[in-house]
Amino acid sequence: SSNQMWGGRFAAGPAAIMEEINASIGFDKKLYAQDIEGSIAHATMLAANGIISETDRDQIITGLKQIRQEIESGAFEFSRKLEDIHMNVESRLATLIGAAAGRLHTARSRNDQVALDFRLWVKAELKKTEAMLTALIGAFLDKAEKHADTVMPGFTHLQTAQPVTFGHHCMAYVEMFGRDRSRVRDAIERLDESPIGAAALAGTPYPIDRHMTAAALGFREPTRNSIDTVSDRDFALEFLSIAAICAVHLSRFAEEIVIWTTPQFGFVRLSDAFSTGSSIMPQKKNPDAAELVRAKTGRINGSLIALLTVMKGLPLAYSKDMQEDKEQVFDAAENLELAIAAMTGMVADMTVNVDNMKKAAGSGYSTATDLADWLVRELGLPFREAHHVTGRVVALAEKNACDLSALPLDQLQAIHPGITDKVYDVVTVEASVASRKSYGGTAPDRVREQIAAWRNRL
Ligand code: ARG
Repeated sequence: SSNQMWGGRFAAGPAAIMEEINASIGFDKKLYAQDIEGSIAHATMLAANGIISETDRDQIITGLKQIRQEIESGAFEFSRKLEDIHMNVESRLATLIGAAAGRLHTARSRNDQVALDFRLWVKAELKKTEAMLTALIGAFLDKAEKHADTVMPGFTHLQTAQPVTFGHHCMAYVEMFGRDRSRVRDAIERLDESPIGAAALAGTPYPIDRHMTAAALGFREPTRNSIDTVSDRDFALEFLSIAAICAVHLSRFAEEIVIWTTPQFGFVRLSDAFSTGSSIMPQKKNPDAAELVRAKTGRINGSLIALLTVMKGLPLAYSKDMQEDKEQVFDAAENLELAIAAMTGMVADMTVNVDNMKKAAGSGYSTATDLADWLVRELGLPFREAHHVTGRVVALAEKNACDLSALPLDQLQAIHPGITDKVYDVVTVEASVASRKSYGGTAPDRVREQIAAWRNRL
């Protein structure tokens, strides 16, 4: 019976491979609490509608509660022969209470059962994600508040563009994680329908009450189409999409941390709690947590693509392919939680090197646009001409190897005679950020308004 190629592992031949490829208990035991909760609600509904007796219901519920205890105390023996969590629980129930256990599966299939268990799990995970995002947003708000006046270079193409404040930069992430949180809330709304009672795919001839089970399990209402109900994994795909987008946001800040903690930038310092040393280079302090957050994005995005690809060719209704949904979601959820928690810790603990940021903010002629705007405002130059004049001023500063503010007035006037010494007031980084008062701009007062508005929204 044992095959030459893989006989060592599969002593019992093909049947053992069937068991290994088919079983999901290794990962779907994570759904035990949802499975038991769902079965209790189902049995209660069956009895309320005269489909099983109250005695059977009571025995079933007592047995299920005992099983829950056995699982939680570690006494339960999961069996791969029994395939999945649903059959493991039902089989144990039969051992515990005998014949009545066989009535639990009336008007139900594993197809609606797994859809129920998994929905309940994803719903709880979404709520957890929502709370974790709120904490992360809170950490960014604290940093933004502390650094509403801290000037840093704003970048485009990672080239110094215009001065901004670190507070404003932090608030950009508040917006991103705020959108993630609102996507989580939307997903909970859409997911909030109970699948139980769809049965295998067609519904059931028993006089069940799906509104009753929906209410007992905390769903807004039952799903409306039994075929869709057992075929649908949109809620899992939505979870993964949200996780992927959120992970991309986390990864972008992680990347900035990696850049900013280099000695060359020196904008921020991570706490010892979120850095590691090198086994050979004593001077090193590495941003490993940020790098791992950046890397988690790869596997979370991978999970989304994996499940999209599993689902794309499936005819209605249930196919066993769909069993592959859970590991992707579990893995993405675990790693997203880790990434959000690590980022929350890093943000809360990091210290900002205000001097380095300010020095960098002024380098690279970052206030050249302010000079051009001054020429437009004070001298009435068309913006295009002001741009040209400013370009010559920058070229001069480059030649002199100095900042714009260090150019002598007579040299500026040689480029444009209208320039006065008032120009020195607008080419500082502080004046630059203070002037950007447009709604959503980097002016510290504007940023403080946004911080206050977000505090209310939390
Ligand atoms: N373990 C299965 C899953 O995760 C449960 C549903 C099985 N249904 C079936 N008809 N084989 O999808």
